[in-house]
Order: sequence, then structure tokens, then C-alpha cells
Amino acid sequence: MPVADYGEVAALLRAAKKVVAFTGAGISAESGVPTFRGSGGLWRNYNAQDLATPEAFARDPRLVWEWYDWRRQKIAAAAPNAGHRALVTLEERAAQFTLVTQNVDGLHDRAGNRRVLKLHGDIWTIRCTGCGRTRQDLRAPLPELPPVCECGAVVRPGVVWFGECLPPGVWSVAEQAAAQAEVFLTVGTSAVVHPAAGLIEIAHRGGAKIVEINPDLTPYSGIVDHRFHGNAGVVLPQLVV
Ligand code: OAD
Repeated sequence: MPVADYGEVAALLRAAKKVVAFTGAGISAESGVPTFRGSGGLWRNYNAQDLATPEAFARDPRLVWEWYDWRRQKIAAAAPNAGHRALVTLEERAAQFTLVTQNVDGLHDRAGNRRVLKLHGDIWTIRCTGCGRTRQDLRAPLPELPPVCECGAVVRPGVVWFGECLPPGVWSVAEQAAAQAEVFLTVGTSAVVHPAAGLIEIAHRGGAKIVEINPDLTPYSGIVDHRFHGNAGVVLPQLVV
């Protein structure tokens, strides 16, 4: 396991023209938003994989919506943390910076990042399963679960569920940025959900220096160039100096 050196990685980030940050639920953990896996990752004894599927929604839309409504309330009460803010500084500083997130919480936008590639959609967007109308709905809690569209059909969260395709435009931009990155930060993700986690491999093959920030090991920890065993809100500000 490579030994992490704050000064060395900070210098890499200063020198690089093409930087990608790839984030997961762990970056929002210090804001009080629960992660999906590990301790605190369960909701009423359900796994994320059992709720975030089209099948679960078809079976019990109210149950799935209760989970999303609970998450929306947690997120509404949360604020971006020092980890999110460090990525805003990086965006302002790097010649070419791409922020790719698996998070649907919107905390990167609220922190001030101008361009956020959201691989798994946005929890504040809702979409009708009947007429397809998509709109923003910032209410938390929602007054009725499941919400119903004017057309009479049930409305779903505007997120990507297991078994569904990623937004194609977003994925191709993310893939290209990963392939061309000089430095690729993977922050607060268990890196087990594909295709998103495959970006780490794509960046590695493209010759990027891979930097992992996570208190736990991931399937990619063995191939990274620098591993910081710690919380994003503590580690990231020390790398963006
Ligand atoms: P996970 O819940 O799978 O992983 C969160 C990761 O964050 C774990 O590896 C933790 O060790 C790490 N972590 C926890 N606290 C941290 C901190 N303060 N700083 C840094 N790291 C920390 O979340 P994701 O990897 O984002 O998809 O999960 C990927 C996808 O699975 C999600 O986008 C979601 C989920 O089901 C869908 O809903 C489609």
C-alpha cells in the first residue's frame, strides 16, 4: 500500500492541467447524510439495493418513496462540508476540472461547484412514470406519498436505479474526462457500483495518478498511487493548498 504524502499529492494537483474528482456518499457523510453501505447504511433493515430498483418501486412505490423522502429530509437539513468546499477551490484553480458524482444530494451544487456530472441523477428532480414530465420539487417532506402527477400516474424520484442506464450524455463526458485525466481523485465511494466505479479503472489505464480518500479499503485500493485513510472533510482541504 503506497504511503500517502500530503505535500506530494498537493503538488501533483497544483501541477496538473486535467483533474477529475469522482465522489460518492462518503463525501456527504460529514454533513450528516447517511451512506448506503457500512455502518449507518441501513434504513428500517432494508439495503439500498433492495429499495433502489424499478422492481421495488413497482411492488411498493410508497415504501420506496418513504425512503427517498427520509433521505430528502436529511439532505435538506444538511450543509456542504469542508470536503465539498475543497472541490470548489479545485474547480476554480485547475485548468480543466471535471467533477463526477454518484451522489444525488445536490451538495456539490450548494457548495458552489459550477459543473457537476451527476451519474445517478438528482433526488430533487421528480419524473412522472406516465407522461414523463420531469420537474424539480424541493419539498421535504412531500405532502403525499407516493406523489401523483396531474395526468394521474405515479411520480418517481429522478434518480438512476439498479438495472437502469446512466444518463448517456453524462456518462460519455465522464468517461472521456477519466481517460484523459492526469490526476484522478476517488473520494468517499465504496467503488462497488458499476459502471460508475469503472471510471477508476479507465483513469488508471489512461495513465492518471489515482488518489483515494476513504477511511475503508475499496476494491481499487490496491491499484491507487496514493491512499489517504481518512475522512474527506479532513483530507481534501489539506490537498488543495
Ligand atoms: P457507499 O455507501 O457504498 O460507500 C460510501 C463510502 O464512503 C464507503 O467506502 C465509506 O468507507 C466511505 N466513507 C464514509 N465516510 C467517509 C468520509 N467522511 N470521508 C470519505 N469517505 C467516507 O456509497 P457510494 O459508493 O456512493 O446508487 O455508493 C454508490 C451507489 O450505490 C450510490 O450512488 C447509490 C448506491 O446504491 C444508486 O442509488 C443507483
